[in-house]
Amino acid sequence: MKHEIEFIINGQNMQFTVDSNQTLLEVIREELGLTGAKYGCSTGECGACSVLFNGEVVNACMVLAPEAAGAEIITVEGLAEEDELHPLQKSFIDHHGVQCGYCAPGMLISAKALLSRTSRPHEEEIREALVGNLCRCGAYADIIKSIQVASRARR
Ligand code: FES
Repeated sequence: MKHEIEFIINGQNMQFTVDSNQTLLEVIREELGLTGAKYGCSTGECGACSVLFNGEVVNACMVLAPEAAGAEIITVEGLAEEDELHPLQKSFIDHHGVQCGYCAPGMLISAKALLSRTSRPHEEEIREALVGNLCRCGAYADIIKSIQVASRARR
């Protein structure tokens, strides 16, 4: 079955015809070409596909595209403002929060959500916020440090 849906993604209004069984991740990556959110497990376990959905972190692989009707979505591509990286992105670069990079978009989205609700999170709060994001390189210490430093420069 086909559905006509409309949503806002990274500040832009979009209209699509989607299938009932199409995931939000498929629409974001394949229809919109926003390839920051990654396919990892496709079962809601790894967080590589994390996006902000009405301000909450969701695994886009677990959201059916028709459920996105009327939603406001932010992907990692929506964090930078024009040519300026978000402080989290800068900090991930400066403090080695990115190793292979596969988990980085999801980590950044979870960190962005955390900093939206807690200006100076403690390490424990950061760890809790990242609990749904797996890093296959094991770079957790540098990721946590990156978020701590960025929280001091957040916008
Ligand atoms: Fe969605 Fe792993 S790809 S949680």
